[in-house]
Amino acid sequence: MIIDGKALSETIQEELRIQVEALTQKGKRAPHLAAILIGENPASAAYVRNKIRACEKVGFKSTLVQRPANISEGELLAMIADMNNDNLLDGYIVQLPLPEHFSEEKVTLAIDPRKDVDGFHPYNVGLMTIGKAQYLPATPFGILMMLERYGIETAGKHCVVVGRSNIVGTPMSILMSRNSKVGNCTVTMVHSRTKDLKAETLRADILIVAIGKANFVTADMVKDGTVVIDVGINSVPDSTTKSGQRLVGDVDFLAVAPKCSFITPVPGGVGPMTVSGLMMNTLKAYELYS
Ligand code: GUN
Repeated sequence: MIIDGKALSETIQEELRIQVEALTQKGKRAPHLAAILIGENPASAAYVRNKIRACEKVGFKSTLVQRPANISEGELLAMIADMNNDNLLDGYIVQLPLPEHFSEEKVTLAIDPRKDVDGFHPYNVGLMTIGKAQYLPATPFGILMMLERYGIETAGKHCVVVGRSNIVGTPMSILMSRNSKVGNCTVTMVHSRTKDLKAETLRADILIVAIGKANFVTADMVKDGTVVIDVGINSVPDSTTKSGQRLVGDVDFLAVAPKCSFITPVPGGVGPMTVSGLMMNTLKAYELYS
């Protein structure tokens, strides 16, 4: 079965819209999310556009702050300080990756954890790790919602996470192991230095792939009945399209899908759910701190 992340995301955003409408009908202000986009990375620009569009759909106020790649780290830190002090701003994100001359660590540390709706600040990472998250990172959050709403049993299952990034692989492996509604898995995390990666992926009941390599997972790496969650968004050449490019995941979808009990497509799988995760976090920031 194909997991329709786009449709599920629309359902969640409609639920949010109804909640926001109830707030504004009571005379309250709408939740407010801001996004900082530095430079001209086309993928980042597209992601930020999707986030702003989602704000409009659910009835949030949104602010997009765009600056050229050559601004200084000091200028970015000053913008962050202003946002931290803005009482009418519930949450904001600094879209990653940043241009080379920025320290992503320093920038992330400057964000007020109460407004860190990406859940990237070490304080929020720490809360998540001990099972007391205020904001789950948006992509893992989106994946948990997908597993929950599709009624996919996770307790006691073997979950293999491919990739160890700070924003997907690492938090995903922690969350799937926790004693929580979606969780209670036995988790294996694999990465570029894993000796026999295929031997590990073949043991997965739930396989979550976030390695950033087009069609990395092939049919011989997946056992029958696996739940496959594909986090990858890779652009590959395709002469049959107008742009000359096409988006594919980290999983060879056409070959792997027939073996799966569930699989997410790219596009239309994890991507839209990530945006919904961010919207949920923004409403939570509003509820907790406004
Ligand atoms: N770059 C890739 N994913 C994300 C995300 O979830 N948030 C931000 N801020 N940057 C990203």
